[in-house]
Amino acid sequence: MVHFEKVLKDPVHDEIRVDDPWIWQLVNTSAVQRLRRIRQLGTSYLTFHGAEHSRFTHSLGAYETMRRVVEHLHREYGWPDSTRERRLALSAALLHDVGHGPFSHTFERIYPLHHEHWTKRIILEDQELRSVLNQVDEAFASDLVGVLQKDGKFPYVQQLITSQLDVDRMDYLLRDALHTGVTYGRFELARLVRSLALHEGTVMLKQSGLHTAEQYILARYFMYTQVYLHPVTVGSDILVGQILRRASELWREGQWVDMPDELAALFSGEDQVTVEDYLAIDESTLQYAFRRWSKSEDRVLANLARRFLDRKLFAPVIRPEPNSEEWAALRTAARALGFHPDYYVSGRSSEVAAYVYRGEGILVLSDDGRVNELSRVSKIVRSLNPDSEYRLFLPKEMLESEGPLQHRVLSIVQAKQESS
Ligand code: NI
Repeated sequence: MVHFEKVLKDPVHDEIRVDDPWIWQLVNTSAVQRLRRIRQLGTSYLTFHGAEHSRFTHSLGAYETMRRVVEHLHREYGWPDSTRERRLALSAALLHDVGHGPFSHTFERIYPLHHEHWTKRIILEDQELRSVLNQVDEAFASDLVGVLQKDGKFPYVQQLITSQLDVDRMDYLLRDALHTGVTYGRFELARLVRSLALHEGTVMLKQSGLHTAEQYILARYFMYTQVYLHPVTVGSDILVGQILRRASELWREGQWVDMPDELAALFSGEDQVTVEDYLAIDESTLQYAFRRWSKSEDRVLANLARRFLDRKLFAPVIRPEPNSEEWAALRTAARALGFHPDYYVSGRSSEVAAYVYRGEGILVLSDDGRVNELSRVSKIVRSLNPDSEYRLFLPKEMLESEGPLQHRVLSIVQAKQESS
């Protein structure tokens, strides 16, 4: 066989190596290339201006991490022992996010189908992708879907792509930290990879890698509290959600909305949405729609879209969830100030769980062969209890301008804060 090698420069891993021409064909399918047009962190770029990296860069990064893991495990444990299983591991890493749409976590709140549903459909139904996968064999695509849906048939590949110690997290923590410019997400990737062991059909962590794993779990904790659940980002997500909700409601009621065909197919609510329809939607579709909607005759839609484009986001207020009287008073004040309360007054609780030990904890293998769940051997990990924070989101004008109504809003918002 002619030697094949592509080396891609990467800000996280320095070099991404593709030594299998079949993987290179996958990278070059339009389903994978589409991920260049979807930001990895959705609206986070409105909080951290560097967060412009795409899901494509993360997918390549997850692939490269898997390649290194597979190289290490092959050297030490002789796994994978076939080209087919190596390809299964590498392609699972490359394709695990292929079903993501623009602002997908927001999108999923108003449109009922989860990105994982689309990942499965794209792998099975997209003709170009399917024909590359079929080069391995006819069962390959469904085995790949099985891995991503955790069917248990290929436990090592499955754990390496979807567990608490998987290549997906390893790449996105480092990549998101780099691009947002924070230092929290750092950990020693090479050391963590070398610490992986195979034992009793399970991917485990060698005792010697304990501190590296702690660093990785802490990285996850900090990235959640400081970046992923940043109140400004959550507020931007809510704004995107309200824009899409208003536009789809108007459109379903038969009112005139400048709705791109690609979105119309999705909002029509039929089960008839094809993979082709779905793949036609990327972030440019939404960004362009927002620009058109900012000139809509509907005041609410136009104002919400304008706010997003000009980054006039909702102001977050961290406080306990309002009781029903407080909600009613906030809604009344919003209405009096000219804001439709259904679209301008909202709240959300954000939960952080850096590590969950129940069911699928990380297993630590000691030198004498004993196996312990990570939180049993690490005080640091044990101390990271799941936590949540409630945030209320309002237009800044409801809090900042001078006026009797704003005073009313402030007194409602602050009253509970002081007493809690
Ligand atoms: Ni991912």
